[in-house]
Amino acid sequence: EKGGFDHFMLKEIYEQPSAILDTFRGRLLTNEAIIKMVGVEDNMKKFLAANRIIIVACGTSWHAGLVAEYIFEDLARIPVEVEYASEFRYRNPVITENDVVIAISQSGETADTLAAIKLAKSKGAFVFGVCNVVGSSIARESHAGAYTHAGPEIGVASTKAFTTQITVLTLMALRLARAKGTISSSEFRHHLIELETIPRKVEEALSSDAYVQTVADIYKNATNFLYLGRGYNFPVALEGALKLKEISYIHAEGYPAAEMKHGPIALIDEHMPVVVIATKKGHYEKVVSNIQEIKSRKGKIIGIVTKGDESVKALADHVIEVPETLECLTPLLTTIPLQLLSYHIAVMLGKNVDQPRNLAKSVTVE
Ligand code: F6R
Repeated sequence: EKGGFDHFMLKEIYEQPSAILDTFRGRLLTNEAIIKMVGVEDNMKKFLAANRIIIVACGTSWHAGLVAEYIFEDLARIPVEVEYASEFRYRNPVITENDVVIAISQSGETADTLAAIKLAKSKGAFVFGVCNVVGSSIARESHAGAYTHAGPEIGVASTKAFTTQITVLTLMALRLARAKGTISSSEFRHHLIELETIPRKVEEALSSDAYVQTVADIYKNATNFLYLGRGYNFPVALEGALKLKEISYIHAEGYPAAEMKHGPIALIDEHMPVVVIATKKGHYEKVVSNIQEIKSRKGKIIGIVTKGDESVKALADHVIEVPETLECLTPLLTTIPLQLLSYHIAVMLGKNVDQPRNLAKSVTVE
């Protein structure tokens, strides 16, 4: 059942190239230069008339929502707010009929997310669900939606659900951008061609596994980790920190790299491993200077870099390479080594990777 892997989590990490392909199936038609998404097309008027999109989710799905915020605003020029479902539902939020609410949930059963969409519906908003489990409560309660088609996710720590959520949301953003005319046809085509290479590039990112394992071995006894990223990779930093916390029980925090100097930099000393996502596209020079700030305080740097990188390599204690792609697609690649790092540390510490203490696969209580 684990297909030769020691844990479901590792199997699911390795399933990501095929899971993303399944998410593309019937939707990404590169030759015809179209994206087909029935749930979006049937409701195009609502999307095009939307004043804003409100994304509601919890945990890892909330991180996928943050990535979506960047991509929807960047490509489709629609204002996006990303909300923790548990906060949104109790806040008497301002919602109107001109709002589109996107609920993201792997299980489709998360109590807070379900309650948030019921509230949004009662105020007349249009609700679109991005779920993995077919026929789940959130999928049924939504007006329309798009499934991630990741296949069953058994490991409690979400992996392939996250990358396929980002995939669906990227397809949506591109489809809406095309309909709105905020992307040119040549740029659109370029994005589709790049998107199509992602499963192969995820495969390539997975080939760093053995090296990630040696890095895990060096830092497995650290009591704190910091994860930093900017732009599209800020949410990836949050997700990397969450993965480490939940399965290895090591304290970790994710931060936007530039926020360091407003507080967390005080934590840096020779015992602090800092995972920095520093891919070539996306504020590269600025991240390099953030790395210098950490090095001068003796922090240990684990850089997630674009293949062939030189500058970060010269500064960092370790670098893990991912293939080059468009900036907006980098989260699909930079996430991979962070999943592997948390997995190997947890295994080395003898933790129950697939069923971490205190956690459940679907959180049906608020
Ligand atoms: C983290 C994790 C949780 C879930 C959260 C939302 O690895 O699995 O943070 O992401 O409980 O769950 P869903 O997506 O099912 O609504």
